Amino acid sequence: MPVQFRVLTTHIGAEVEGIDLREPLSSAQAEEIHAAMDRYAVLVFHDQPLTNEQHLAFTSVLGPLENTANILRTAADFRLPPVFADVSNLDGRNQPYGAEDRRRLFAIGNRLWHSDSSFKAVPAKYSLLRAVRIPSKGGNTEFAHMVAAYDALDAETRAEIEDLICEHSQIFSRQQLGFTDFTDEERARFTPVRQRLVRTHPVTGRKSLYLASHAGGIVGWPVPEARAFLRDLVEHATQRQFVYAHRWRVHDLVMWDNRQTMHRARPFPAHEPRDMRRTTLAGDGPTTAQVA
Ligand SMILES: [Fe+2]
Repeated sequence: MPVQFRVLTTHIGAEVEGIDLREPLSSAQAEEIHAAMDRYAVLVFHDQPLTNEQHLAFTSVLGPLENTANILRTAADFRLPPVFADVSNLDGRNQPYGAEDRRRLFAIGNRLWHSDSSFKAVPAKYSLLRAVRIPSKGGNTEFAHMVAAYDALDAETRAEIEDLICEHSQIFSRQQLGFTDFTDEERARFTPVRQRLVRTHPVTGRKSLYLASHAGGIVGWPVPEARAFLRDLVEHATQRQFVYAHRWRVHDLVMWDNRQTMHRARPFPAHEPRDMRRTTLAGDGPTTAQVA
């Protein structure tokens, strides 16, 4: 059966039907999926009861994987092969983190709008997130379409932002929530990287806003002015007409293009397990030159 791309009711994203991700993907199917990603930026696959190995195999056919850092987990806490980002709220014994657990509080940063690994010099291409267990309520993931948001800017703003360079670090996103107790080792690891504010999609040639809560400065701008300006842009880019809210079902796999979208998690009851597992495709290169 050919792969069917059914467009969701919003202008962002498509639901994909007619494909079993447990089966090896043909190169023709992989090309179709890439083309759909270029076009829709978010693809939703329902009813895909994958093993970790199948999830990984599907990802690998689409491109090289990013070396994912499970930021605060120690080896004893690893539930998944290290190539996965463990986006669950579960420790190594599959128990939800306590309310005051540092790992839980750090992960609350994912409730701020962001693009995965924008704090890395070479940021991520696609993320593929699979729902294994979901809470009884809440826990949606929302996606904002940064191409549509760019297109809606006025000409003066587009000209102003065209060549701006931002500095991204997880320190900046966590600071916004009052999470500031980083170790010296973490501060060194979270050294800011530079990203263009306006990206051009390598296939479609369309421009998009490259924003994230990790962005804490604009090169050459005073910090308060930069942060206020970035905050205004995020507010613009996340208006409801640019946003799709995904309500998870168990065995959903959602794939998004981090170059064209921002996303955020929504709250859920902290004591309930939410088991989400992510693989990530590496980006092609830096968006701008880095400073030593
Ligand atoms: Fe994320």
